[in-house]
Amino acid sequence: MLMISSSYSRGFITISCIVIFLFYVIHFFSLFTEGLSANATHFTLEGVPFRILGGSIHYFRVPRAHWRDRLLKLKACGLNTLTTYVPWNLHEPERGVYVFHEELDLEAYVRLADELGLWVILRPGPYICAEWDLGGLPSWLLQDKQMKLRTTYSGFTTAINSYFDKLMPKIVPLQFKRGGPVIALQVENEYGSYAKDDQYMSFIKEALLSQGISELLLTSDNREGLKCGGVDGVLQAVNLQKLSYGDVQHLAELQPQKPLLVMEYWSGWFDVWGEPHHVFDAQEMISTVRELLDRGVSINFYMFHGGTSFGFMNGAIDFGTYKPQTSSYDYDAPLTESGDYTVKYHLLRNLLSTYNNEPLLDPPSVQSRRAYEPVVVTHYISLWQSLQCVETRIRADDPLNMENLPANGINGQFYGYTLYETDIYTGGELNSRNHVRDRALVFIDRELIGVLDYRTQKIRIPHIKGEMTLGLLVENCGRVNYGPGLDNQRKGLVGDITLNDVPLKKFTMYCLEMKPSYINRLESLKWVSVGKKPSYPAFFRGRLVVDEPTDTFVKLPNWSKGVVFVNGRNLGRHWSVGPQKGLYLPGPWLRSGDNQIVVFEEFKADETIHLSENPEYGKIIDVSRHPFCTLM
Ligand code: GLA
Repeated sequence: MLMISSSYSRGFITISCIVIFLFYVIHFFSLFTEGLSANATHFTLEGVPFRILGGSIHYFRVPRAHWRDRLLKLKACGLNTLTTYVPWNLHEPERGVYVFHEELDLEAYVRLADELGLWVILRPGPYICAEWDLGGLPSWLLQDKQMKLRTTYSGFTTAINSYFDKLMPKIVPLQFKRGGPVIALQVENEYGSYAKDDQYMSFIKEALLSQGISELLLTSDNREGLKCGGVDGVLQAVNLQKLSYGDVQHLAELQPQKPLLVMEYWSGWFDVWGEPHHVFDAQEMISTVRELLDRGVSINFYMFHGGTSFGFMNGAIDFGTYKPQTSSYDYDAPLTESGDYTVKYHLLRNLLSTYNNEPLLDPPSVQSRRAYEPVVVTHYISLWQSLQCVETRIRADDPLNMENLPANGINGQFYGYTLYETDIYTGGELNSRNHVRDRALVFIDRELIGVLDYRTQKIRIPHIKGEMTLGLLVENCGRVNYGPGLDNQRKGLVGDITLNDVPLKKFTMYCLEMKPSYINRLESLKWVSVGKKPSYPAFFRGRLVVDEPTDTFVKLPNWSKGVVFVNGRNLGRHWSVGPQKGLYLPGPWLRSGDNQIVVFEEFKADETIHLSENPEYGKIIDVSRHPFCTLM
């Protein structure tokens, strides 16, 4: 007995010694494993010269079931690195509530890239710009009236620290030195164009380091931002579309004896509602890329595949005029919104094949799409009836902005619409005093009388008898994602509105964030057959029967403005002003059999919802002949 137990304990000691020995050997080698390094005029990886040939694909803009297809297409194009932003507003939708599953499973996305033999550069912000609501910052931050975003204001830095405490432990083990594919991380994003606090970039850098980030750090800026976008000890990279402005030369002078990296080579551009669809000439892109490659520059395509800003996630620009972006983020990139190859893809693959030593993978076969039979709209329910399903209605003397409405037991509504109602006793001039963010349908006794927005701030209310209800259905069309105005992105009614110069009081407010749970709850109501003249706004319902779920585009040619939901999921906004005239509906979000399509429509519905094989992005404008993109 004694002998057996002592031989057991000897065995145990030996195994423990081996484990401890191995641990130290691995740790010792990890100290000397050389990841991406920028100590010369070219990058090295594991000590060997390396050129970053990257492409941006945002996991949160692509249905998870399509990740593999898109990443394989990136690899088959001759790229070696995947880059992605990390959207804080989705990962922490409410303060202290974290989401890292389904389309938000960042670890799975990075591991997939690793499995496919791609390196990864992460851009965890926390501000990401990206044509994304508030540049990816959670709008609950704006509940603090003193908030100073992208500064070392303690309310902001404390929130970042809590978020990084949850995010970074997921990223740290995926770093190159730990055997993972993450070779570099970006510190913030284009801070040189904001630059409100000269301590801020060091704070972010230190936050990353203290969390255990040990790979190469870099910053990226446009030409103007390069001056003050950097931070000590961190490589600077530039963002551009054309070489004519001498941006690469400028970077080389600013940072001699360092590798040159175009972190965002803009393959196209984004769209805003009411203006043409931006494209960028494929030949021009290729000749610029060829020149960059010939000059030994590393490059990342922003975007390689744009995808979709599903739901209410689009951002907006405001250079004097507020302009919300579309739900499509096609970007005229080498892969289209639905993952199709384009001329750019093929030209780029030809070019990159000459920069790869190994033959490129065959591009994966094209994914099919279906033009399903039109869906007949059978029933509708008016917005007014739907209010029974609204979880939160709040009464207060003064109108509250969205972020400060105590919705769903948590403080704040962040996206969608809010209905404000109050009783009035006289007609006259209704003045928004520019407090509508961003657009309001105005009702008297629930009959539409007009629209208020940034341009139209006054409306005449006809003479009324007795007491009537004034209603404002205010739509948050998307928070600005770029520029100095980030702190002013509260939505809903952000101050008093007046009737004949007297501020209105005693509001009832209904939060209409239109989450899947709300759309599903509508089912319990008595929907009305569309035979009768519907009252607007309203939710319209149809049934799409599917044999094999396949990608398609939802089109609403005779409709006006609203939001489309499929099986409760918010696909994005539809608006007849275009340019986008179809919403991408990913096949994996459909099920075999019955699927429910609900369209929220503000003004004018049709009897049918069309499902088309191809998108429609509207009239085009070439950005090479349009100065707009020099603004970023
Ligand atoms: C900048 C930002 C990106 C994006 C592009 C325009 O470069 O860094 O996030 O907004 O502009 O598409």
